[in-house]
Amino acid sequence: MDKSLIGDPLSRVDGRLKVTGGAKYSGEWELPGLAYGVLVPATITNGSVVSMDVKAAERAPGVLAVITPFNTPGVPGFKPDASQPVRGLKLFNDKLIYFNGQPIALVVAESFEKATHAASLVKASYQQDVFETDFDKNRDKGVVPQGGKYKDYVRGEADAYKKAPVVIEQEYRQPSEMHNPMELHVTIAAWDGDDKVTVYTKSQGVIGTQRSIANAFGLKPENVQVNSRFVGGAFGSSLRTWPHEIASVMAAKLLKRPVKLTLTREQMFTLVGHRPLTIQKIGLGATSDGKLVGITHESISQTAVYEEFTEGSVNVSRFLYESPNANTRYKVIPLNVGVPAPMRGPGEATGSFALESALDELAFALKMDPIELRLKNYTERDPERNLPWSSKYLKECYTRGAERIGWENRPSKPGTLREGEWLAGYGIGCGAFGAFRGRALAKVRMMADGTVNIQSATSDIGPGTGTAMTLIASDLLGVPAGRITFELGNSSFPTAPTQGGSSTVSSVGSAVHDACMAFKQKMYALAGMPENSSDPIDYVAVLKQHNLPFFELTEESQSSQQAKNYSMYSFSAHFAKVHVHPLTGAVKVKRLIAVVDAGRIVSYKTASSQMIGGAVGGIGMALTEEAIFDHKYGRYVNGNFADYHVPVNADIQDIEAIFIDKPDPYINPIGTKGIGEISLIGVAAAIANAVFNATGKRVRELPITPDKLI
Ligand code: MOS
Repeated sequence: MDKSLIGDPLSRVDGRLKVTGGAKYSGEWELPGLAYGVLVPATITNGSVVSMDVKAAERAPGVLAVITPFNTPGVPGFKPDASQPVRGLKLFNDKLIYFNGQPIALVVAESFEKATHAASLVKASYQQDVFETDFDKNRDKGVVPQGGKYKDYVRGEADAYKKAPVVIEQEYRQPSEMHNPMELHVTIAAWDGDDKVTVYTKSQGVIGTQRSIANAFGLKPENVQVNSRFVGGAFGSSLRTWPHEIASVMAAKLLKRPVKLTLTREQMFTLVGHRPLTIQKIGLGATSDGKLVGITHESISQTAVYEEFTEGSVNVSRFLYESPNANTRYKVIPLNVGVPAPMRGPGEATGSFALESALDELAFALKMDPIELRLKNYTERDPERNLPWSSKYLKECYTRGAERIGWENRPSKPGTLREGEWLAGYGIGCGAFGAFRGRALAKVRMMADGTVNIQSATSDIGPGTGTAMTLIASDLLGVPAGRITFELGNSSFPTAPTQGGSSTVSSVGSAVHDACMAFKQKMYALAGMPENSSDPIDYVAVLKQHNLPFFELTEESQSSQQAKNYSMYSFSAHFAKVHVHPLTGAVKVKRLIAVVDAGRIVSYKTASSQMIGGAVGGIGMALTEEAIFDHKYGRYVNGNFADYHVPVNADIQDIEAIFIDKPDPYINPIGTKGIGEISLIGVAAAIANAVFNATGKRVRELPITPDKLI
C-alpha cells in the first residue's frame, strides 16, 4: 500500500460508518438511567407568563420534573454578577416572553413520548404586550448595530454612483431562511457529582461549547467534557451554545440523571437561528464603457429584541470590484423573533445576491457581456484594505466556467433562446469569502506497528474533516491512509477552533501538517539520519530499535506575522443554465458550475461534494426557501418540512465543481484557502441572472417562485 498525496480523491474515511449506521450521533448515546426532556413553547409573541398550571403534567405517567420560571433551579451564570455571563436567552430565569415559541417549560420524563404527552398538558396564562414581527411595517426602526463593527464605510465619495452616466439603483429582498440540517439539534447531559458534567451535543466546536457550559455552571473547563463526534449537517446553527443545551445540563443536574433534550423539527424553526430577512439597496454608477464610478450598498436586516445579530452583508461591495468610490450602510431592526444565526456564507451570500444581480442589470443597461463587465472592473489589489491579495485567480474562474458551460450560447437578448418548450438562459454570480486561519493543535501518535492516530478537538459538520487530515498526514509521513485514524469532536483532545468560516483545513490542517513534520524530524533524529532527509524511513524499525511502544508529540500552529501584509480571500464564479417554462413559470436549474479559487485543494472528492452541497443550498435560496410570517399571531406559517421548501432530489440536475487548485503562498504551509462558504455565495445571483436571461424578467425578491414569473 502506498501513501496518499494531498489532492488525491480519497473516499470519505468515515463514509462506511455513516452509511451503515455505525456512526454514533449525539442523540444516540444510550446512558443508563437516561431521561428525556421536551420543551414547551410560549403561544404569545411578546409579554410575560403570569401563571402556570403544571399539575396535570406533573401527574402524567413517567414525569420526573416540570421546570418553569416559577420553580427553576437556576443556572449560576445567569446571575447578573457572574464574571462571564451567559450569552442570549436565559431560559426560565424570568417570566418575559420575547418571541412566539420561546420555551416556557421543560418537561422531563422516563421516555420521549411520555415527556411529549406531559408537555401538552402544561397550561400558562400570559400578559400579552403589543409585538412587532412585521419587517416592512418597521422599516424605519432600523438601528446601527452596537459595537462599531458595522459602522458606515466610505471610500472616496459617498453615493457617487448617482452622478455617473449610467446608473442602476435597485432594491433586493432576501427572506428568512431557516436552519434545517438533517440531524435535529440534540443534547445529552450527564453529571458526575456536582462539579463534573459530560455532554453529547450537536456542536461545530466542542471547545466553544465546553467554555460556554463551564461559564454557565461555574465549572472548571476541564470538568466539562463535550463530545460531538458525528454531526448530521450543520451550516452555522451549531456555532454557538443554545439555550436548550444549557437547559438540558440544568435538568440533568436537578434530577441527578442523564437527560436528553431533542428539539422537534418545528422547534428548529424558532430555536436555532436563521438567515435573517434582509432588504438591500444597491446603487451602481458607471461610465458608458463600463468602468464603475461608484458603488453604494445599503442593507437592513431583522434581529431579535433580546439579542443583536449582525453579519457582513454589505462587505462584499467594498472589495470585489475596482471603484474609486464605494460606501456601505448597515442597519438592523429588532423584532419579536428568535435570534438569527450565521448560515453558510453568512452575510456574503445575502450581499452577493444583491451586488451580483445589480451588476447583471448594469451589464444589460450597458449592452455589455456580464463577464466583460467584471473583467473591466477587476481588481489586482484589495481596494478596501489597500493590500495585495495573497492570491487571486478569479479571472481564471471566469474563463474556465465560461468555457465549461458554453457561455457563447448565451443569448445577448433575453427571452430569445428556446430549447423545446422551455426558455433557456445563462447567468453568472461571483462570490468571495475571507480565508482565515486560527490557532490549532494536533497530536500525532505512532504505535509500534506503524499505525498512526491523530487527535484534534475540531469537528466534522459534513465537509469530511477526517478525510482531509488523513490525506495531509499520509502525504507528509509517507504512511498509507488506511493506517491512519483521525479523531475529532472531543473537548479533551488538543484544542482547535470551532468549525466555521471555511477555516478548518487552514487551521487544523496546518496543525496536522506541522505535527507530522515535527514527528518526522524526531524520527529521523532517533534513526540517526539528518533531520531534513528525504530518504525513506522505516518507522517500525526505529521504534523497535529504541524499544518504544509508541511515539507521540503535540504541535501548535498559527498564522505568521507576514500573513498580515496580505488580504486573503477565496473566490468563486458560479455559472448557471436554467430552463423556465413560459406557461407555468417553473424554473429548472439545468446546470450549475462552480469554479473556485480556494488555493490548494487537499481532498478532491470531499471538496467536490462540499461544493455541490453548497450549490444545492444556493438553489434553495434562489428558488424555494422562505419563512413566511403570520403577523396576526407572530408565528411562522410554514414552520415545518411540509410547507417550508428545500430543494429535493428532483430539483437537482447537473452540478459540477472546478478547482483552480493553485496554492496560496502566504496563508498557511499547505496553501489552502477554504471552500465551505463560497460554495453558496453567488449561486442565487447566478440563477436569478440566468432567469433574467431566459425570460427578460428581473426578479429581485427571493425565492424566485413561479408566481413571480407569470
Ligand atoms: Mo458556517 S455559517 O461558518 O458554520
